[in-house]
Amino acid sequence: MRILFLGDVVGRSGREAVAAHLPGLITRWQLDLVVVNGENAAGGFGITETIYDEFIAAGADAVTLGNHAFDQREALVFIERADRLVRPANYPPGTPGRGTALVEAKNGARVLVTNIMGRTFMDPLDDPFAALDKTLDGVEMGAHMDAVIIDFHAETTSEKQAFGHYCDGRATLVVGTHTHVPTADHRILSGGTAFMTDVGMCGCYDGVIGMDKDEPLRRFTRKIGSGRFEPAAGPATLSGLAVESCDKTGHALKVAPVRLGGSLAEARPDFWDA
Ligand code: FE2
Repeated sequence: MRILFLGDVVGRSGREAVAAHLPGLITRWQLDLVVVNGENAAGGFGITETIYDEFIAAGADAVTLGNHAFDQREALVFIERADRLVRPANYPPGTPGRGTALVEAKNGARVLVTNIMGRTFMDPLDDPFAALDKTLDGVEMGAHMDAVIIDFHAETTSEKQAFGHYCDGRATLVVGTHTHVPTADHRILSGGTAFMTDVGMCGCYDGVIGMDKDEPLRRFTRKIGSGRFEPAAGPATLSGLAVESCDKTGHALKVAPVRLGGSLAEARPDFWDA
């Protein structure tokens, strides 16, 4: 099956890029499954129900989150009825919403989508490795599930790579999110799991990790904040990862980065876009 994962959508600029590109890409590339990280979609902080509905309307089959999951307080309530919205699985017991969603892909395939947060330089949540084992307990790709998609939302490259290897063979795709800059190490690990340390953001790169550059520069140079962080408003680059998986085993067969629009050099999967 054909899978597209889109990295952290930042603010209005990122949302406009998703709305402008995604419906056409689903048709052009005949995508079976689209997963979007939406934790920075509302002004850079969290997600609203309206924005979640817009992502689903644009063709997303699941929307993942991260450390900003509940920055918009309404998410604490609407997440219960948003059955394709997935917050980190290793949040404390009793947290609203779900850490895993079972999604029917556009081709009818059964897909497990989970979101897990790293702990290095992040909030001290439950052990992400143990959370992964719990999530995949009894789940066998090729038998119970046609594909498993893991969004690992973490700060450090080391924790992300260790997590990728930990999942290798048990998932179709493990993709890092949160740091907003695409890494150049997309590949298929030895066990058949596609991996990329960080997929980058869907946002304006003429800023500081998606935010307008003025306030971050003030804080770094003068150590005194004098305003709020606002998303950078220039044209966004749509950043993601394209994966083709085996319908029998669920393992990845092909992987390629996607970067369209904005200021980054373009990248597209030549195996779909010849
Ligand atoms: Fe984040």
